[in-house]
Amino acid sequence: MPRVAASVDRVPYSRIRELGEIALGMDGVLRLYFGESNLPTPDYIKQAAVRALEEGYTYYTENAGLPSLRGAIAENYRRLHAVELDPACEIVVTASGVQALNMGIRCTLDPGDDALVLTPAWPNGSSSVMMANACVRQIPQPLCGGRYRIDFDALESTVTARTRLLLYTSPSNPLGWVATEDEQQGLLDFARRHNLWLLADEVYDRLYYAGRELGDPVPSILRKAKREDAVIVVHSFSKSYCMTGWRLGWLVARRDLAAKATQLNEFVISHAPSFTQKAGETALAEGEEELRRMLARLKENRDLCLNALRAMPGVTAPEPDGAFYLFPRIEGLDDSFTFCRRLLEEMRVGLAPGVAFGAGGEGSIRICYAADRSILEPAMERLARFLRLGA
Ligand SMILES: Cc1ncc(COP(=O)(O)O)c(C=O)c1O
Repeated sequence: MPRVAASVDRVPYSRIRELGEIALGMDGVLRLYFGESNLPTPDYIKQAAVRALEEGYTYYTENAGLPSLRGAIAENYRRLHAVELDPACEIVVTASGVQALNMGIRCTLDPGDDALVLTPAWPNGSSSVMMANACVRQIPQPLCGGRYRIDFDALESTVTARTRLLLYTSPSNPLGWVATEDEQQGLLDFARRHNLWLLADEVYDRLYYAGRELGDPVPSILRKAKREDAVIVVHSFSKSYCMTGWRLGWLVARRDLAAKATQLNEFVISHAPSFTQKAGETALAEGEEELRRMLARLKENRDLCLNALRAMPGVTAPEPDGAFYLFPRIEGLDDSFTFCRRLLEEMRVGLAPGVAFGAGGEGSIRICYAADRSILEPAMERLARFLRLGA
């Protein structure tokens, strides 16, 4: 009997999905395990998709995506970051952020290479490294004085001649940590010194609460990188525009890598759906007002959950500056999957177990606070009760 290839058999199942699948078969669950807003895609974006269908955007497009969308993405970087990109050769539209991540990783690693990954992190990056037959070297981010940091000493002592890639996510899923400018510079210098590709997952860059005003983006690594740097940025429409189901994202990279990713797109997905791409163009052009409204609501949600968590005994909850997650640490917790499973079965609250996010994640749970207050408030009450009952 032929078997599934050992290299893919090795790729672990996502433990967020595992928990999610148990929860999906249950009624009355307060669902905070997946990373998405409960808000529907705004109407102006849906209407743009309908218009695009009527206008005939139902055919194949370029592998790199519609030139008009790449132009809109370049315009977005000019406006938000004062970064000039060439839409003809430095931007590739993808069918989601995760496809951009997978493609970036695929284009940088040969079988047997090493990738350094800052963790706790959304597991898909590490799984993509494994799918490329390469090895993940996890570098946990320590929590010091209420803020997560980068362990540059651990990076230095783990890098070898086989290391080709350093992957980090800012704002982080699940930590909500945002790299400071000094940390970004440190990562870039480290990557330059060791001849590595630096892959920055910036899909949450618009969900930022520590800027001068709500709506200010987290500064992109592209503000520091030079055109010839081996830097890749992965992005998505999913989070900022409530478009998770649309599957639309992009990748910015040095032109040789962007050209290869464009070519490989042909064999994976060819391109993102054409009418979806037109809707994405509208989201970028018209989305600011709606985005700010969503940010105000997310910040209120964050503070509501943070206050509730900080009143629970044995719970430490660092304040996140970005994304829409809290990652509280629970004293004495050494099996977060069982904890989340019991919380689900006994209290009907669905959270993601910290162990799903790799080294440094065990002992914590992830709460996605992009839900209605009518869900968050009872979820926090039930979590408090569960802990009081001696979890
Ligand atoms: C850190 C991170 N990167 C990328 C993605 C991919 O988003 P999508 O594939 O929906 O564009 C996600 C989604 O949860 C994420 O959390």
